[in-house]
Amino acid sequence: MARIIEKTNLNNSTIKFVVNSPDIAKRAKPGQFIILRIDEKGERVPFTISETDDENVTIIVQIVGGTTIRMNELKAGDGFLDFVGPLGKPTELDQYKGKNVCVVGGGLGTAIAYPQTKYLHRIGAHTDVIMGFKNKDIIILEDELKKSSDNLYITTDDGSYGKQGFVTEVLKENIENGKKYDLVLAIGPMIMMKNTALVTKEYDIPTIVSLNSIMVDGTGMCGCCRVTVGGQMKFACVDGPDFNAFEVDFDEAMNRGRNYQQEEREHICRLTG
Ligand code: FES
Repeated sequence: MARIIEKTNLNNSTIKFVVNSPDIAKRAKPGQFIILRIDEKGERVPFTISETDDENVTIIVQIVGGTTIRMNELKAGDGFLDFVGPLGKPTELDQYKGKNVCVVGGGLGTAIAYPQTKYLHRIGAHTDVIMGFKNKDIIILEDELKKSSDNLYITTDDGSYGKQGFVTEVLKENIENGKKYDLVLAIGPMIMMKNTALVTKEYDIPTIVSLNSIMVDGTGMCGCCRVTVGGQMKFACVDGPDFNAFEVDFDEAMNRGRNYQQEEREHICRLTG
């Protein structure tokens, strides 16, 4: 049982959990994730590790489905039956010391992008961060990202904060205005990553995406997280989650992501009545 040390509601739809798990905390690197199960009847759900200290692992969770609705009912002192990790390959960032990197994120992708941004800052990369949200009420980690980047750009769909529009528009504007990026790292909804890759391909900027596929075992056994990359089948949990954006079949990945929408809706109905 992994004990919840702290639970904070960052806004109406986003929760931060600090979970006691010294083994994972000591070994986790940016880009890696955990898989948790609330209890013996719970589904196995992956969450990216947002932060660690010597003893604890922080995950940030968006309340979007049955498991996350149940997670919102938990409080400090409760625990998760299974809390397994660190899983996946860490993001390879050391080569970008002194280089220019742009981290592009959307929604909850912000929480996933935060450890990478912090790491890049620590090794001395020049980092621009572009984060997009639906509206100002769901903005998270603004102060944290400001501290760990050279420039932070925020967009909202409705213009209620920052610049109205999409992250890809700011990215394109920055490039057109003379920013020379050695790497773009895109993390968030699949459509946002696909559109980011379309922009960076135009300017031939190496681009990595972090794929948030549906996962079950997280160890390459079940095949649930399979994606097509460079024409080959890969498992996001063990071959990724990071991949060369120009090789990912995003349309197939988006179709697979929609496979269980009906079951998810039924699960939510059962929980919420
Ligand atoms: Fe089962 Fe990746 S989650 S193979």
